[in-house]
Amino acid sequence: MKTNFLVLVSCSTLLLYLISGCSKKTETDAMLYDLSKETTDFVWYKNSDEILESSSGSGHTEPKFRTRYNTLAATQLNAEGKVVDNAVFPEGSLIVKDLFNNKDNFCTYAIMYKDSDNEDADADGWVWATYKENGGVKKSVTKMGDGCNSCHSGGLDFTLMNTYFP
Ligand code: HEC
Repeated sequence: MKTNFLVLVSCSTLLLYLISGCSKKTETDAMLYDLSKETTDFVWYKNSDEILESSSGSGHTEPKFRTRYNTLAATQLNAEGKVVDNAVFPEGSLIVKDLFNNKDNFCTYAIMYKDSDNEDADADGWVWATYKENGGVKKSVTKMGDGCNSCHSGGLDFTLMNTYFP
């Protein structure tokens, strides 16, 4: 009897854990979504908020985008708003790629956040994620850039705008 009860408790706990794990948004996800929603003090790539067509190299399904840099990340932009050749983004840099559908409706934030001490950072100090407009998590920081950083590895400190939009 006692054993049955214990089995029941363990199974329910496991089930609850699995259910909550699936839809879980971590604290870092919540913080980065909030930071990405904000647009004040961001600088646009090439100083332009024009919505561009994604390049042939883009790994995102949405066809259009534009890219912006928070104040720390913008220290690695030159006067033209392009990333400098020897760029090393400082800790706290946030780069947000706003993704749009073909009717220019905003749908997704794809982000890179430099935070080497973060438990979700990859070996090069970048935290990667994608969020829906309403804050839903498409790719959580906990994936540690899986499906992002290998494609980005050829860029300037892992950024590809200069390569595809020189
Ligand atoms: C198949 C290659 C590829 C994959 C995979 C990929 N990207 Fe990108 N990404 C690009 C390219 C190319 C650009 C330049 C803009 C464009 O052409 O869309 C870019 C631009 C960006 C930018 C703007 C900053 C910059 O200069 O690179 C961010 C932020 C970004 N991607 C985040 C992500 C995240 C997060 C993931 C994973 C969910 C990801 N990317 C997966 C190719 C890729």
